[in-house]
Amino acid sequence: METINIGLLGLGTVGSGVYHLLSRENKVVQERLDAKFQVKKILVRDLKAERFFPVERELLTDNAAEVVDDPDISIVVELIGGTNVAKQLIEQAIAKGKSVVTANKELMANFGGFLLDAARDRGVDLYFEASVAGGIPIIRPLKDNLIGNKFKQIMGIVNGTTNYILSKMATGREFAEVLAEAQQLGYAERDPEADISGSDAGAKIAILASIAFNSRVSAKEVFTEGITRVTAKDIMYAREFGYTIKLIALAKEDKGMLDVRVHPTMIPLTHPLAAVNDVYNGIYVIGDAVGELTFLGRGAGSLPTAAAVVGDIFEAALNIKFQRRGRSGCTCFRSLPVKSIDDVKSNFYMLMEVADQPGVLAKIAQIFGDNQVSVGSVIQKQSSGNVAELVFMTHIVREGNLRRALKDIEDLEVVKTICNVIRVEAAENA
Ligand code: NAP
Ligand code: HSE
Repeated sequence: METINIGLLGLGTVGSGVYHLLSRENKVVQERLDAKFQVKKILVRDLKAERFFPVERELLTDNAAEVVDDPDISIVVELIGGTNVAKQLIEQAIAKGKSVVTANKELMANFGGFLLDAARDRGVDLYFEASVAGGIPIIRPLKDNLIGNKFKQIMGIVNGTTNYILSKMATGREFAEVLAEAQQLGYAERDPEADISGSDAGAKIAILASIAFNSRVSAKEVFTEGITRVTAKDIMYAREFGYTIKLIALAKEDKGMLDVRVHPTMIPLTHPLAAVNDVYNGIYVIGDAVGELTFLGRGAGSLPTAAAVVGDIFEAALNIKFQRRGRSGCTCFRSLPVKSIDDVKSNFYMLMEVADQPGVLAKIAQIFGDNQVSVGSVIQKQSSGNVAELVFMTHIVREGNLRRALKDIEDLEVVKTICNVIRVEAAENA
């Protein structure tokens, strides 16, 4: 029976899971492929570190060349992360004629086009299913299974850490405590700033948008806003209006332009993504032929992510076995510009603390009117002393107009604080 040798780059959270699943499922692979997988070498940084699953010590190396330059290894699996060493080693592996599997969203969102072209030119594959939404199959469905559709929008909860935090905050717990818990559970990135700031989700929606709209979107083109300003009070007011708050990554095509962004978003409690809680991820897709689809599952963690990586290894192995490599090349044949956030239109929620005296609401309403911001509803909540809380919901407005209005409102003496402004995906602009 043929042996397909695999080299792992990294044996951390995901790498350990991949090693474990490859050993566990080798029998099934043999039946399906008439070939067996053999992990030949594993690159790590620290040869002495304690490993989560038992690994034969002689498999470990701290010399990358033992993986990427070994002529017997035909699939290299990059699970190091980051864009420096990982990119260099993937390029080296491709140049040596190896197919590559990676879970690295940062790399694919910034250098995906370049690496996919390099793989196609060399006649090898580059698969990256685990780079978005961990265990949920979404990249291959968008690329292949759903090719008969024109996509109207992709809307996702694609960061498990922030979804975990927002879900727990909705039950009254504090941000810092829940973040520490998410890190302990292995959901958060080593530097959780990438999760909390929205940049992890930004990289993921850049990848999904590029595939769905066949037009390259890089991570830096995605408008991102994180979750640090969201409070338990916002979540409570959201409920009063029939919404919940999620960190939503969104991509739409609108009049020849792409609208791609990540930010805390109020979505109706009836939306399929509203029920996606804890570390779960969800991706809601509208295709013109298929209609609405929702993909749900675990978006992070060792085994869920490893399961997606193993699926890609199997696909790459199938291609090797049947000599049909180079099938996973770049699909971005269009070139659509990405809209500036100022030109994006949506509904908005705003919470302000103002002086509780006559005429305040009229002054604010005047500024909104002057900037073509139409208010749908306003609720006044009594706060302490002579300060009142005002909660506004707007109709659909152009974001640039709202920002201009808020600048003037902030300057009003009667306005103490604009506590928060959150975009709303209501049914009318969904
Ligand atoms: P991790 O736990 O930090 O593991 C990284 C591994 O790479 C470790 O084994 C480390 O070696 C090795 N490594 C790091 N720098 C290296 C270097 N310069 N040379 C050699 N080895 C090096 O990371 P992870 O959570 O498994 O994530 C891996 C990738 O999967 C990332 O791209 C991440 O974004 C992506 N991902 C992660 C998840 C998740 O839930 N964690 C989900 C989806 C995608 P030592 O063990 O010796 O330190
Ligand atoms: N830190 C990421 C998350 C891991 O929380 O979703 C998966 O990329």
